Amino acid sequence: MSIFKCIRCGLEKPVDDEYVCPCGGLFEVQHSFGDVSLDYFDGKLREIGSSWNSGVWRYKELIHPEIEQKYIVSRPEGNTNLYKRQRVAEYAGVDQLYLKHEGENPSGSFKDRGMTVGVSVALSRGATKVACASTGNTSASMAAYAAQAGLQGVVFIPEGMIAYGKLAQALAYGAKVVQVRGNFDDAMDIVKNGSKRLGFYILNSINPWRIEGQKSIIFEMLQQRRWNPPDWIAVPAGNLGNTSAFGKALRELEQLGLIDKMPRIASIQAEGANPFYQLWNSVDKKLVSMHPDTIATAIKIGNPVSWEKALRTIRETDGIVEQVSDNEIMDAKAVIDASGVGCEPASAASVAGVKKLREKEVIASDESVVCILTGNLMKDSDTTVKYHLGELQGIDARRSNKPVQVEPSLDSIETLLQATGTPSSVMVKNLGV
Ligand code: F0G
Repeated sequence: MSIFKCIRCGLEKPVDDEYVCPCGGLFEVQHSFGDVSLDYFDGKLREIGSSWNSGVWRYKELIHPEIEQKYIVSRPEGNTNLYKRQRVAEYAGVDQLYLKHEGENPSGSFKDRGMTVGVSVALSRGATKVACASTGNTSASMAAYAAQAGLQGVVFIPEGMIAYGKLAQALAYGAKVVQVRGNFDDAMDIVKNGSKRLGFYILNSINPWRIEGQKSIIFEMLQQRRWNPPDWIAVPAGNLGNTSAFGKALRELEQLGLIDKMPRIASIQAEGANPFYQLWNSVDKKLVSMHPDTIATAIKIGNPVSWEKALRTIRETDGIVEQVSDNEIMDAKAVIDASGVGCEPASAASVAGVKKLREKEVIASDESVVCILTGNLMKDSDTTVKYHLGELQGIDARRSNKPVQVEPSLDSIETLLQATGTPSSVMVKNLGV
C-alpha cells in the first residue's frame, strides 16, 4: 500500500489530503513496489490501446500502483520526443545534447503528467472542486483535465503576469479564473491556506501525487535512451516540483536496481527569481523568499513550495543549481527556436544553464546532457514576436529575425530578395499582416 511520509521528520500516515506535516515538512508518497523490470516496461510499448498509450500510466507500477482504472483521467499525455539538434549542442558547447520536449504534451507543457495523476486521485477521493495557483501552465493543464473529469476547476493567477496562450486555455476549458492582485506566491498562499474553507482539492505540486506523475519525464526519457542514463539532466526551476520529481524518480529506480548510474541534476533558475540558487550557495541551506522578476513568467516565483524536496535531489544526485539572466534565456530560446524545435522562454533556461555550466567547466564537453524543454513555443507567442521585433526592453535581440515590409507587387519583392539575400519573413503592406 502507498502511504505519505514527511520528508523532514519521517512521520508516516495513510494517504489523505493534508500535504504539510505538523513539523512544517512536506509529505511525499512512499510506495511498496512489487516486482518490476525494464523488460516489463518495454513490453508495454508493444501494447496498443488502454492506458498504456499514456507516457505516464505506462509506468503505473512506479507512480500509483493501486489506483483503479475507472478513476484514471488521461488525454493521453507524455510520449514526448527526445531531439538531437547539432546547432543547439554546439551553442551549449557539448558534443551530445538532447532536448526532451515536454511542450508536446496535450495542453502544451509538462504539467499534464502530474495533472493526470492529480485529477485521477481527486476523482478517487470524491472531490468535486479542484484548484491551483499558477503562473499559467498549471492552470491550463488543470482546466483541461478538470473539464474532462467533470470537476469544477478554480485557478488563481497573478493578475496581468501570465502569458496569453495559457490564460486563453484556462478560460476556454471552462475553469473559474481568479486574477489575484499580487504575484504567484500570493496566489499560492491563498490556495494553501484556503483549501479547507473553500472546499477544494489542491492540484499544485505541493500535492505529492503531482510529483508522482512528473517522475514519468525521467522514466520515459531513460526508456528512450534504452535505459542508459545521461551524465546530466538540466531542468528549468520555479516552484521546484520538477526538480523534486526527478530526484525521487532516480532514487527509486536506483533502489529497484533498474539503473546503475545516477545522472546529475542541474536545476536552472532565472537570475531575477533565484531563491533556490541563493539557498544552494548559502551556508545554512535555508530558503529566503524574494520578490521575483523575470521575462520567463512561468518561473517567476520567489517562494518555491518544494525547496526541501528539491534540495534533496541536488544533494543525492551530486547536482548543482545555476542561474541565468533574461538575456541568456532569450538568446538560448532563439537558438532552440531556430533549430526548428522551439519552446517558451522558461524552457530555454535549461539550455542557457548548460552553456553556462560548460563555460565554468562544471560540465565537460564529452558529457551527455538532456535538457528538459518544459513548455511549447505557442504558449507565449507575444514575447517571441516582441523579441524578433526588438521590442523587449533590456534584451539584446541579436538573433532577431525581423520581418521586412514591401509593396504588394512581385517587382518590389524580387528587388528586395535580390538586394538582401533571402529575408525569412516578408510582410506585405496593406494586407493586414
Ligand atoms: N517551465 C515552465 C514552462 C513552467 O510552467 C514551470 C512552472 C516551470 C518551468 C518550473 O517548474 O515549478 O516544477 O520548478 N510553472 C508553474 C505553473 C509554476 O503554475 O504553471 P517547477
